[in-house]
Amino acid sequence: PAAPEAPVAGAVAQANVKPVSKDVTILYGSQTGNAQSLAEKSGKTLEERGYKVTVSSMSDFKPNNLKKVENLLIVVSTHGEGDPPDNALSFHEFLHGKRAPKLDDLRFSVLSLGDSSYEFFCQTGKEFDQRLEDLGGTRLYPRIDCDLDFDEPAAEWIEGVYAGLSEVQSASVESASAVAAAPAVESAYSRTNPFKAEVLENLNLNGRGSNKETRHVELSLEGSGLTYEPGDSLGVYPENDPELVELVLETTKWDGNQTVTVNKEEITLKEALSKKLEITVLTKPLIEKAAQLSSNEELKALVVPEKVNELKSYIDGRDLIDLLRDFGPWNVSAQDFVAILRKMPSRLYSISSSLAANPEEVHLTIGAVRYETHGRKRNGVASILTAERLQPGDTLPVYVQNNQNFKLPENPDTPIIMVGPGTGVAPFRSFMQEREEIGAEGKSWMFFGDQHFVTDFLYQTEWQKWLKDGVLTKMDVAFSRDTEDKVYVQHRMKEHSKELFEWLEQGAVVYICGDEKHMAHDVHQTLIDIIEKEGGLSREKAESYLADMQQTKRYQRDVY
Ligand code: 2AM
Repeated sequence: PAAPEAPVAGAVAQANVKPVSKDVTILYGSQTGNAQSLAEKSGKTLEERGYKVTVSSMSDFKPNNLKKVENLLIVVSTHGEGDPPDNALSFHEFLHGKRAPKLDDLRFSVLSLGDSSYEFFCQTGKEFDQRLEDLGGTRLYPRIDCDLDFDEPAAEWIEGVYAGLSEVQSASVESASAVAAAPAVESAYSRTNPFKAEVLENLNLNGRGSNKETRHVELSLEGSGLTYEPGDSLGVYPENDPELVELVLETTKWDGNQTVTVNKEEITLKEALSKKLEITVLTKPLIEKAAQLSSNEELKALVVPEKVNELKSYIDGRDLIDLLRDFGPWNVSAQDFVAILRKMPSRLYSISSSLAANPEEVHLTIGAVRYETHGRKRNGVASILTAERLQPGDTLPVYVQNNQNFKLPENPDTPIIMVGPGTGVAPFRSFMQEREEIGAEGKSWMFFGDQHFVTDFLYQTEWQKWLKDGVLTKMDVAFSRDTEDKVYVQHRMKEHSKELFEWLEQGAVVYICGDEKHMAHDVHQTLIDIIEKEGGLSREKAESYLADMQQTKRYQRDVY
């Protein structure tokens, strides 16, 4: 991932002659937890070198304190169609609004996270970076936009920031008393060192005749020391479909047994394509690099600036096999080619079990992804590995991704409302197992939906048991394809709008998990409708009622 501008460490607020404080504020906006953990890690690095660091979620930061901040670091991801993560929304809005203060004394730097296969790559980071400059701030170090494989660029960024800070320090009266960096303490297993978890169970939850296939996978964490809380996710490193790997080798005529170097490791080409590299997604940077390697004129013509829209539509729904087939011949070494591929990214799944109820185990609920584009059948990498190849006794490399944005209330008496159609049910199974295990007394209300009652009621018997035992207070289900008119979870919520608003007024926390684009968006609008109607509020007031709930963590979303 390229830094948008060349690092110019000298271009720091030279005019600023005030003694410079060693206070650094790091704000993060994080949906899956990656930005948060990078913010915390960066904070540690600076603390070890003598800085006084405050790390905080943007949603916990009081915008009025911004004027007091001298050194601001922002770590933020981009979500969906270029949107800020939920916990960045209010700060993003404040900063871009009329109430944003002049920030002439501010020094700042932005680390943005994203995925270069999306059009609005790192959009939120770019916006913060531009806006802080517009408000008068000076960059400590140029923004770095990270792709999925963010470890190295993030490490480069914090070193650059540190160099920028040191420069300001030595230019000021105070001199920087830098302490050598101690290596960060990592727990035994992590994203960069996943644990090979044994598969204990792998079942299809859908009945015969369903349009869906949803896998229930139980994994052993025995001996790993890994722990998790309800709401956390499990990162999974899948292997590519062996048929696709064969197709790559067939198309290029490369020998799969030759040795290549990937991530400083020497392995066979076949193993690299199976386990280490992404071959199912095309990105703009990848095609640009491929065009440089290739002598194919058609490919070279596709990456010229005037053709950006053609390039965008080419990328959509195609994979590496398409690229290799469409733009041969590939008179390039396998080593040079693998060097331009992205590392195999992990997939995050919301954990569907409670550790307290299942010691040393973790459960996942994974929807199988199968579709067809450009005349070829395509499969989700991890979900189809799970559905078609993963057997009990096999292992899967995993790590725990803490998610502070999706947590049961600390007080077990607090009522909760859970909205989780389809695989969105996952974290709520974990919530219920946990509340049952600890004997929580708070009320709970589940909204579940899927296509058909008979084949798609995921974990039906478990829900019925929790209802009967009183662990779950209420449950409403919406089966969209059992009736002529579609019924969705939000229709059920509307039917109970009065009671639902009463729960909100009693302090209930609302959770939404599942599809972002359609479901979570529509449920969000429905919540505003309900608050407007039952609270007798204007649309605007209803919207800020929900925004306040979000701000105070009484409205939490885990959407994808
Ligand atoms: P459908 O596929 O019949 O349209 C889980 O996938 C469930 O979510 C399915 O019943 C699906 O219905 C439903 N769903 C699809 N779009 C939705 C939306 N905008 N809001 C709520 N549920 C939706």
